[in-house]
Amino acid sequence: MSRKLLLLTLATMLFALGKESSALGQAALTKAKGIRVDPNNPRYTYRLQHSRDGIGKFYMGREIAHVMGHLGAGWLERSSREVEERPQTLIKALKLKAGYKVADIGVGTGYFARRISRIIGPNGTVYGVDIQQEMLDLLERNLKNAGIKNVQGVLGTISNPNLPANSIDLAFMVDVYHEFSHPYEMMQNICNALKIGGRLAFIEYRMEDPKVPIKLLHKMSQLQVLKEASPHPLEWVETISVLPRQHIIIFKKTAPQSAAKANTNEPRNP
Ligand SMILES: C[S@@+](CC[C@H](N)C(=O)[O-])C[C@H]1O[C@@H](n2cnc3c(N)ncnc32)[C@H](O)[C@@H]1O
Repeated sequence: MSRKLLLLTLATMLFALGKESSALGQAALTKAKGIRVDPNNPRYTYRLQHSRDGIGKFYMGREIAHVMGHLGAGWLERSSREVEERPQTLIKALKLKAGYKVADIGVGTGYFARRISRIIGPNGTVYGVDIQQEMLDLLERNLKNAGIKNVQGVLGTISNPNLPANSIDLAFMVDVYHEFSHPYEMMQNICNALKIGGRLAFIEYRMEDPKVPIKLLHKMSQLQVLKEASPHPLEWVETISVLPRQHIIIFKKTAPQSAAKANTNEPRNP
């Protein structure tokens, strides 16, 4: 079996097992010292011993990273991003169409929202979501300077991007998901905002590649992304490997199972 096929098989197995593994892991963890289960959502645990780059909260075996503060916003507009992240290659891979409703979750200063606004045109909208008002202020200033009218800033919360239900063709997150303090709730609400068949793209620095010069908690492996997507109504579509440092992992929102379909495993009355 080729290495690629083996990886894909492993990924599919993990994706399928995702729901069970968190529940099984939970029971064992609660007995350990220095570990506390989140009373509001037992999917999460807090550990006394953790990385200084993280918030001490764990989800599916991964420690959540600190949010990048608005004082570091200059880093998002650095010129070296062109070489390090090839924004035009990423945008091409997202297969955007004129008129699309796009959600740029964790928009920051709008580095990607501005570039995407040209492609979706005047009939499309980019919703630039962020939890930091300061980032949205910088976004607003950058949009004004560039004369862009089809990008709309949205103030989200740590658990909800506050987007209209069933409205989004494509939601994407560049270097953002690993910072969500409430990844499960965020994913639930992002899925609610997607149209059926709408796509969700994770763009994360590759954990598998030790040469990628980014702190560990700010990287994600493909398997971890698949695992964390597994509780949600999402189907993996493709992983695009065209960027120097990041994965582009794409899912689409599946239709809710009809009652008849959902009950096919239930015993039937004769
Ligand atoms: C590293 S920056 C990336 C910004 C932008 N995507 C880019 O690549 O230029 C991460 C951004 O995600 C935002 N963020 C973190 N948690 C969020 C959440 N739950 N909802 C929306 N934005 C969030 C942060 O405020 C920050 O602006």
